[in-house]
Amino acid sequence: MAVTGGVLVLYLVAHMVGNLKIFLGAEDFNHYAEWLRTMGEPAVPRRTVLTLIEVVLGVSVVLHMWSAVSLARRASAARPVKYQSKKKSHAQGYAARTMRYGGVIIAVYVVWHLLDLTFFVVNPKGSDATPYERMVADFDPSRWYITVWYVVALVLVGLHLNHGIWSAFQTLGLRTPRRERALRGLAGTVAALVTLGFVSVPLSITFGWVS
Ligand code: HEM
Repeated sequence: MAVTGGVLVLYLVAHMVGNLKIFLGAEDFNHYAEWLRTMGEPAVPRRTVLTLIEVVLGVSVVLHMWSAVSLARRASAARPVKYQSKKKSHAQGYAARTMRYGGVIIAVYVVWHLLDLTFFVVNPKGSDATPYERMVADFDPSRWYITVWYVVALVLVGLHLNHGIWSAFQTLGLRTPRRERALRGLAGTVAALVTLGFVSVPLSITFGWVS
């Protein structure tokens, strides 16, 4: 979970920073989108590096979900006899719910997001437009419900990151009573920055600050 989660966190940070280029205007954003496809040229053909990134991402997502399911199975097999009390501590119940259901909603969101901005199936502009035009059309004020859907999914991504990064510190043996507050703060800060950076894009378009 920690290794594949780490790969996904790095991708999310890079993706969020890249998306912020929308604030530099159409030319810079489209130039960035083109660079994603030409990275590594002329040493390697167009899209080679991007395809490698896509393969690493795809494998990481599959292994991350597979680890989640097998860890949950292992945990329940380790205690065939149920706890007498169904009452869980607040933290236990909250974390398990946000990770499990949040993870499923994030997976559905990623599929929607790929159909929207990678394959253009559900995007109002389609394949003839530039990446900037597709983005601005997507979050047009008339399509406020798409912005709401993205914001809800991104808040779930933030909660997932907060708990996931914190759990990874634990897995890696970094958690000590002395470091607990600092590590919790670090996980929360990374999660908040990633979420705020991501939501700033659709919100700015819907509110007309970017057009
Ligand atoms: C407001 C939030 C987001 C916006 C505006 C956004 C925008 C985009 C755009 C424009 C692309 C196409 C890039 C290109 O090829 O030119 C893209 C691709 C992608 N995004 Fe996002 N994204 C957002 C959030 C997310 C989140 C939270 C995730 C993951 C949980 C994610 C995962 C992906 C993936 C996997 C791709 C495909 C990468 C590839 O194969 O080329 N995105 N996104």
